[in-house]
Amino acid sequence: MDAKDFDRWVDTSLTAFEAVLDSLVPANAPAGLGEAMRYAVLGGGKRLRPLLVLASCAAVGGDSFAAMRAACAVELIHAYSLVHDDMPCMDDDVMRRGKPTTHVQFGEAQAMLAGDAMQALAFDVLTPDSGIAPALQARLCALLARSAGHDGMAGGQAIDLASIGKPLDECTLRDMHRRKTGVLLQASVMMGAACGPASTQVTQALSDYGAALGLAFQVVDDILDVTQESHVLGKTAGKDQDANKPTYVSVLGLKEARALAQKLRAEAKAALAASGLTDVSHLSLLADSVVERDN
Ligand code: IPE
Ligand code: IPE
Ligand code: MG
Ligand code: MG
Ligand code: MG
Repeated sequence: MDAKDFDRWVDTSLTAFEAVLDSLVPANAPAGLGEAMRYAVLGGGKRLRPLLVLASCAAVGGDSFAAMRAACAVELIHAYSLVHDDMPCMDDDVMRRGKPTTHVQFGEAQAMLAGDAMQALAFDVLTPDSGIAPALQARLCALLARSAGHDGMAGGQAIDLASIGKPLDECTLRDMHRRKTGVLLQASVMMGAACGPASTQVTQALSDYGAALGLAFQVVDDILDVTQESHVLGKTAGKDQDANKPTYVSVLGLKEARALAQKLRAEAKAALAASGLTDVSHLSLLADSVVERDN
């Protein structure tokens, strides 16, 4: 597959994804809540997590209808995490996806509630009325819940805030990044795989791929925070240093952080090679895009 085929696949997949997501997020929730939810999740972002779900499902020849629902669910959790991450009590950011953050636009209470409602909606889109087979509903919900909760994103965010101003060792930093960012990306891959008939070998290989890609993603996020400009990022650059956050750049230095991102990309690709799957080209090119991205 060449770069053009990949770009075409991304375009087609995201056109379909945006239409389904748009149809699932209500405009008419009470007291303007729907407007805040739609602002936070529609029309922005790279949509990496949905692409991982769809690519992983396609690699195992899975149920693409269920995968599309799962892609929406993961993006709802991710977008909710961004709304809360940006609030004054967390990272206190005013720009996200090139727009004012949700709390700047709608106020803090409404942003908090929009995040809460998006988290609930993420599970709602996977459950009884979704058209997904019951056993798969339960599996998808379990994967998503575990990656979003205390053992995953929320736990990682707690470590992140508790680590401000502290010189973390590499092992603790890795654990924090894995939880706050890596686990949801890994879950995206696993939810896609759950939509199809994946053997133990395939499941393990995709889990290893997701773990490496997920950590690489946050290593690159830390790098871009110091190397990229705000208008390219769509969010304020230089925030980590300003907030005195330990990052892969502060702990390892820029050169070693870049080398680590490359090493993790190689690990992700090695896992794909070990999967025995015949067509992993989309997953492989997504790993490239994680490491080579400029926003
Ligand atoms: C940003 O995620 C937050 C992190 C987990 C580092 P993305 O860089 O995927 O944000 P969007 O979805 O493209 O806006
Ligand atoms: C955010 O990490 C991780 C989550 C939202 C769970 P960051 O705080 O580094 O993300 P950005 O840089 O604000 O996007
Ligand atoms: Mg943060
Ligand atoms: Mg942040
Ligand atoms: Mg960051």
